Amino acid sequence: MSTRIHVTVNGVEYSHFVEPRLLLVNYLRDVLRLTGTHVGCDTSSCGACTIHVNGKATKCCTMLAVQADGCQITTIEGLSHNGELHPLQEGFNECHGLQCGFCTPGMIMTAADLLQHTPQPTEQDIRHALEGNFCRCTGYHNIVKSVQYAAKKISEAAVVH
Ligand code: FES
Ligand code: FES
Repeated sequence: MSTRIHVTVNGVEYSHFVEPRLLLVNYLRDVLRLTGTHVGCDTSSCGACTIHVNGKATKCCTMLAVQADGCQITTIEGLSHNGELHPLQEGFNECHGLQCGFCTPGMIMTAADLLQHTPQPTEQDIRHALEGNFCRCTGYHNIVKSVQYAAKKISEAAVVH
């Protein structure tokens, strides 16, 4: 029996009838067509499916869509504003933080959660925050540099304002 859910995704309200067994990642990818959220493992191990649920980095491959009822969700597609890349997206571009790019949306969403709570993280903070996100291309060094780039850019913008 289908259940109606109401969610806000990237600022847009949606209401759909979904099967109780539908995973949130499949709701985002197959129903809303937001395919920037990737699936690498289906077991909460790799972090490719990381999004924000009510502001918190969440692996949505092991969360049911019905569990998201009433939630505010942000996916990688919702991170840029007014056509401007988020500093993390810019950082990954500038610092060569991606190779195949499969892990990148999840890495960025996890790092965005980190920077919200720890705007000036140490290298250890960054590595600790990203320990649940795997990069099969093993580009961790440049991923850390990309997050450091974003942290610097955000703190400089805060000084200007
Ligand atoms: Fe969700 Fe790997 S697909 S953690
Ligand atoms: Fe290929 Fe990370 S860039 S998996």
